[in-house]
Amino acid sequence: RWNVNKSMNLQNKEKYLQEAAQWIKQGNVVAFPTETVYGLGGNALDSDAVKEIFRAKGRPNDNPLIVHIADRAQLDELVTEIPEVAEKLMKAYWPGPLTLIFKASDRVPSDVTAGLDTVAVRMPSHPVARELLLKADVPVAAPSANLSGRPSPTTADHVWTDLAGRIAGVIDGGPTGVGLESTVLDISGQHPVIFRPGGITLEQIAEVAADVELDQALVTEGQAPKSPGMKYTHYAPKGSLTLVRDPDRIHELVASETAQGNRVGVLTTENRQHKYKADFVFACGADGDLAKTAALLYNGLRQFDDHHIDVIYSEVFPESGVGAAVMNRLLKAAGGRIIE
Ligand code: TXA
Ligand code: MG
Repeated sequence: RWNVNKSMNLQNKEKYLQEAAQWIKQGNVVAFPTETVYGLGGNALDSDAVKEIFRAKGRPNDNPLIVHIADRAQLDELVTEIPEVAEKLMKAYWPGPLTLIFKASDRVPSDVTAGLDTVAVRMPSHPVARELLLKADVPVAAPSANLSGRPSPTTADHVWTDLAGRIAGVIDGGPTGVGLESTVLDISGQHPVIFRPGGITLEQIAEVAADVELDQALVTEGQAPKSPGMKYTHYAPKGSLTLVRDPDRIHELVASETAQGNRVGVLTTENRQHKYKADFVFACGADGDLAKTAALLYNGLRQFDDHHIDVIYSEVFPESGVGAAVMNRLLKAAGGRIIE
């Protein structure tokens, strides 16, 4: 486990990142911070390293990985064409939390793409991720560094809880910033299509590509998602989570579950935190501060587990801006359960 928090002196930081980069070059997998969540990285061009990522996470192998690069020039060997709209989006939002789906070149192992003819690529902005990628000098395939099905990790402790003993190491760069994964945007077809809402919002993409669409599966229930990862119940805490549109209803629900002997939790904001009488109440930021809510969400979901909560009720959040990603993850964590 390498510590490269800002407080470390520069020399140690260099040494640790060099060592971690070496591990990656040698075909091992290493967890590292990005501006969204921690990733579990291995050499994307080394099919054995990629298999090791799937093994460490317990990830189904029909779910493709995102390839991380630090330099625009690395894109050329990974893809067969770079559409005009991709150039514009990269100019506007790279480095940053936007993953683009291109037509894949022969260089990309099929383990990375799960046999699809496309490849997802992103250029993270986190300084530790960038330095690691530059030192490793290979494109790095990296899913979120959680055990498959658990909430994505936003601290090195989350990674360690899930993966200690299963990976070469984790670079501790402190808590991540955005707190939710990157936006996954397909630009390989006629129109850009959002497969997964994330750190770069629909509104931001529309500024550059006015014809952007949402994958129907994000809008209509029962539609098969275009992105394989979106079909899994994901991000789930151990307790059973239900979203509740009307906060007043939550009081009755909590009382009834408590009477049945369950340990009950509530996910709310600072504004109503003190009003709930539950075994554990998590304040996920303040009303109107969706960036803070996004940053705290996964940490909150994990805390319900730490408090051995059986039943969780969550308020709903506005779906504007990064709120779309917050609600997407909450609904998935709740297996779609919402009381209107
Ligand atoms: O912010 C992030 O994107 C983080 C950090 C570590 O970069 N990574 C991440 O990776 O969230 P992962 O593996 O947890 O999610 C990747 C998502 C999955 O839903 C996967 O199905 C989708 O991207 N994906 C990857 N390649 C794809 C492709 N060629 N076509 C469609 N979806 C793809
Ligand atoms: Mg993930």
